[in-house]
Amino acid sequence: DPIQAPEFKSCSEARDVQSGDVLDVNCCPPPSENIVDFKLPPVHRMRVRPAAHKVTKEYLAKFEEAIRRMKALDKDDPTDPRGFMQQANIHCAYCNGAHDQVGFKDLDIQVHNSWLFFPFHRWYLYFYEKILGKLIDDPTFVLPFWNWDNPKGMQMPRIFDNPRSPLFNTNRNQDNRPPAMIDLGFSGATEDLQKVVNNLSSMYSEMIRSVNSTIDFMGQPYRAGNSPSPGMGSSERGSHIAAHVFVGNPKNRYMEDMGNFYSAGRDTLFYSHHANVDRMWSIWKTLKTDVPKDLTDPDYLNASFLFYDENKQLVRVKVRDCLDHRRLGYEFEPVDTPWLNYRP
Ligand code: C2O
Repeated sequence: DPIQAPEFKSCSEARDVQSGDVLDVNCCPPPSENIVDFKLPPVHRMRVRPAAHKVTKEYLAKFEEAIRRMKALDKDDPTDPRGFMQQANIHCAYCNGAHDQVGFKDLDIQVHNSWLFFPFHRWYLYFYEKILGKLIDDPTFVLPFWNWDNPKGMQMPRIFDNPRSPLFNTNRNQDNRPPAMIDLGFSGATEDLQKVVNNLSSMYSEMIRSVNSTIDFMGQPYRAGNSPSPGMGSSERGSHIAAHVFVGNPKNRYMEDMGNFYSAGRDTLFYSHHANVDRMWSIWKTLKTDVPKDLTDPDYLNASFLFYDENKQLVRVKVRDCLDHRRLGYEFEPVDTPWLNYRP
């Protein structure tokens, strides 16, 4: 059977996944008895998510204003599920053992390390983006993606590194602020040029060379009654983790913010990082390789989650409804993907 959406009323404490320590944070969402099933929205015009290193001034002003308002909600009403901390806590609740599997009190829901990884984060960003749009009265609002797979995007995007911006976060690795370059394949390279080469070849590897089955890319099957974390796909294990480790502050106990599940969503950069992870999934599906690009297992397709939408309505979503991002009304600004032809 599929993993079912959690019951918010049985949400309990959060733990650090590695150590098992109980975390000093209550990340349970406000409960609600009123749940509606998601319906695909009519798509009139595609919203295009831009690359973060290329955004216009006008766009940046909107994005900053939306984040400012989302952070203001925390003060106005800390129980508003659209507030910045409430949104960050979604990640904590679904990833640090706060939500149990329905019918299996002793088994946590864990949305990483399995085939739920891509769909869960796609839905999470979908609602996050809708909320930001609502807060600035712009239903066309889109999140920017951190284009770390392109040499021009291989550092933290500058828009996140301005101390006067609401996008700024002090809980990052200070040594890795721009122009420090990311190391996507944990190669240990020290020269920037060598990092670029290694990054492109590790992208080629996680997207193509090391992917011999759908599961290799998507992650292992995870069904109701299974122990959490059956195994990651190549993208989750590679570039995805690399960016978390790059940004998280090693001076903090749990590498907050980006270096731990419970706190990752407190960094505005998290959502742009995941927008690129989401983009990688969409690109992978277009690759002309022999591997089938869609999982057809009903336990995958019918897995479900709960999110509050931009009107504070609790919505039940299924994996099957997010498989084509265009049907959710967005796509990505086209940018070069030099790793595509980067056979080592
Ligand atoms: Cu849910 Cu990148 O972590």
